[in-house]
Amino acid sequence: MRVLVVGGGAREHALVARLASEVGKSKIVAAPGNPGIAELVAVRPADLANPDAFVAIADEWQADLTIVGPEVPLSLGIADRFAEKGLLLFGPTAAAARLESSKAFAKSFMARHRVPTARFITCYGAAEARGAVRSGFTLPVVLKADGLAAGKGVVIAQTLDEADEAIDAAMNDGRFGTAGRTLVVEECLTGPEVSFFVVSDGTRVVPIGTAQDHKRIFDDDRGPNTGGMGAFAPSPLVDDELHERVMREIVRPVIAGMASEGSPFRGFLYVGLMITASGPQVIEFNVRLGDPEAQVLLPRLADPLLPLLVAAARGDLSAIACRLTDEKLVGIVMASRGYPESAASGQPIVGIEAAQAQGGVMVCHAGTALQRGQLVTAGGRVLTVVAGGPTFAVAINRAYAGVAKIHFDGMQFRRDIGARAVSPPTTTALDAQHR
Ligand code: AMP
Ligand code: GLY
Repeated sequence: MRVLVVGGGAREHALVARLASEVGKSKIVAAPGNPGIAELVAVRPADLANPDAFVAIADEWQADLTIVGPEVPLSLGIADRFAEKGLLLFGPTAAAARLESSKAFAKSFMARHRVPTARFITCYGAAEARGAVRSGFTLPVVLKADGLAAGKGVVIAQTLDEADEAIDAAMNDGRFGTAGRTLVVEECLTGPEVSFFVVSDGTRVVPIGTAQDHKRIFDDDRGPNTGGMGAFAPSPLVDDELHERVMREIVRPVIAGMASEGSPFRGFLYVGLMITASGPQVIEFNVRLGDPEAQVLLPRLADPLLPLLVAAARGDLSAIACRLTDEKLVGIVMASRGYPESAASGQPIVGIEAAQAQGGVMVCHAGTALQRGQLVTAGGRVLTVVAGGPTFAVAINRAYAGVAKIHFDGMQFRRDIGARAVSPPTTTALDAQHR
């Protein structure tokens, strides 16, 4: 089996490492990959915004299966291009990827299929949005750009002034480009957030675990949102009863609903949930694995990943199960100075080998580059340091022991990744997130 992995972040590094352990490094090519991935397997240059390029790479490499990591090529129709050419690909079509690429679509879809989610109004102009904020909701109120905005398209407005400013920025100043021309105004929910992951073949679903991420840049969930500064798996908040409730009220209706609307969902579905007093509610869908969530989810799969993805891509998960280990995983993101607003680059990175020399630590590359043989930073999120153990306390210690060996100028990382798994936050701390 020859596999092509599309993407070049820490998530794809974790995917490639997992697949290489199952089928061998020589059977995998990644495009565009990154310097960490290139230490494992062959890589090909490619532009994620140009899905056609991947058809050519899959042809040349004679890939039996292509697995797509990031959302951009999915939303641009990479799965549709591969299907037209008769090439097997794991990932949703552009129509199914609207669950992530259009929040207006996702919200109206959930309303049609009675999937629990925050009350909302979709607005197509600034005056309409200002009206919605004033008439339909109490403060704080949530404003979301419709399209893909790399995790930065959501504002939780505490005052009407803040709401108006966000509406102006999105709809009059074009802060999110076309992604912000439509805004979803929604009720602010409170409760802990959990990420729930499944693989679907279009009709059947195999759960592959839960995780919690740390979105804010600073400790104690302060500062601006990022793509994710760390994650742990599994989420201690999801017991068997909640798991079954999420499957029954959310996951199965979503998969059945997409099929009934003629856009069956084949791929990884990442359901972002808030566990509210009245039960789990959907905050967002992603049509892919999360980053850094993938780095802590994949090591917990006790069964091989590749047969699962092949079966789902072929549309028949009926004979597939996926057991999970009891291991606890923690992943700590190390980011560049200035992230998330900007990112310093070109800083030499040292200590990765020393970090990995500690048992059970894996360092996944994201924004790294090779400059005259020296590994340097090249982006906001630079590395994810991943470690596992029988308890979260052990996994946390191992991961931070790895982080302590690594250095680059201006590095930022949170000191409290996983702490929430050891002692869940109080209600007061959760409320503070919204202030
Ligand atoms: P999203 O990109 O939709 O995941 O939103 C980013 C973050 O904004 C989420 O992870 C939540 O922390 C927060 N958020 C989004 N929607 C809501 C909501 N309705 N109520 C409270 N917080 C929200
Ligand atoms: N860590 C959040 C995401 O991948 O969207």
